[in-house]
Amino acid sequence: ESADVVVLGAGPAGLVLGLLLRAAGIDCVILERASRTHVQTRARAGFLAPNTVRILDRHGLADGLHLGGRRHGTCEFRTEDGRFRLDYGALAQGGQHHVYPQQNLVTDLLTHYLDIGGRIRFHTEALAVRDADSPRPSVTTREPDGRPTRWTARYVAGCDGRHGAARRSLPPGAVRHHHHDHGVTWLGLLAETPPSLDAVGYAVHGRGFAGHMARTAEVTRYYLQWQRGTPADAWPEQRIWDELDLRMRAADHGPLRRGRLLERGVFDLTCDVVAPLRHGSLFLAGDAASLLAPAAAKGANLAVLEAEILAEALADALTQGDTAGLDAYSDRCLAHIWRAQEFTGWMTRLLHAVPEQGRGAGAGSFFHAGLQRSRLNSLRTSRIYQDWFAENYVGV
Ligand code: APR
Repeated sequence: ESADVVVLGAGPAGLVLGLLLRAAGIDCVILERASRTHVQTRARAGFLAPNTVRILDRHGLADGLHLGGRRHGTCEFRTEDGRFRLDYGALAQGGQHHVYPQQNLVTDLLTHYLDIGGRIRFHTEALAVRDADSPRPSVTTREPDGRPTRWTARYVAGCDGRHGAARRSLPPGAVRHHHHDHGVTWLGLLAETPPSLDAVGYAVHGRGFAGHMARTAEVTRYYLQWQRGTPADAWPEQRIWDELDLRMRAADHGPLRRGRLLERGVFDLTCDVVAPLRHGSLFLAGDAASLLAPAAAKGANLAVLEAEILAEALADALTQGDTAGLDAYSDRCLAHIWRAQEFTGWMTRLLHAVPEQGRGAGAGSFFHAGLQRSRLNSLRTSRIYQDWFAENYVGV
């Protein structure tokens, strides 16, 4: 089987890329390992930056978002020196987020892609990308019935995430993997309860960080900084809510609205960047290109931006033989990636007293707690600092 462009993965990166290529009349196919139901129901953060909304608007992909999304422009910080709120939507250039569960956005994108006749194969796992450094790359896949198949293409777009086949197919030495461990671990919780705050809540406490992020009117996401190595089910629900109340200083600011914990997951805050993002006819976008720690909710926004940049470059190459966009793709996207990594690193150290090199809170944590407290006070008192924060918090 063949296509001019074979896209691996139907997440935000792969779907936006497929849609824009199809709209440009390019012959493409998306190969997705999971089922359609899984892709459309996988709950993920939905914090869309203004630039993401602009891209979706520009291509007529934002109807669902405007109908079902909610504007969001405030963060609330709770620290030992008191509580303060940043109305980041009124700072810097006034950018706000749209909160729209990612599974809803992915469902909108997928429905639109199918409506315009887009080709996609579910239950089709890419195993390897072959001959990427040639003008005739191919993708070996495993079909739903286990049968091996091969797709030939002119270009392959690796949008299959951090564990996908695209990354695995890069020959050793062809790219550099810059990996960084922030030295922090989170217990992520999904609670069956409405939000307790009308803002994103960041609590900084001597016992560790706690976070509150609205998802929908029915479920709310909470995070607890967690001892690395401790399993997610180590604490009973009661103890988790008591710890959240403690770190969010419920005694001063009011109790959290408790509810059943629907999901728990422990994950280390790490990040990485692959450079360059191109190897011959193979291009990486989204998590396949770079992983960010979740502290500033930038992953999906970067994925959409990279997809738009790659779609334009591929369309120029395939319709006009102009490969300038493809030649510039990696450097252009890496500039956005490093800026997002820099801010996410700063944000991670703002919320957890960890050193730059991320060796964990143990090493000299008194010193880093002092730095952290100073940063929080600057954020509370300096308008210039607040503008810088707002510009980077929503910027992509
Ligand atoms: N073959 C085919 N599909 C694959 C393979 C494979 N070998 N491996 C992974 N996939 C699919 C996954 O099932 C998933 O649907 O690739 C898709 C990758 O999607 P995401 O993980 O969502 O990655 P991306 O599109 O880069 O989005 C990046 O969005 O998911 C959020 O916040 C998350 O930062 C992330 C951002």
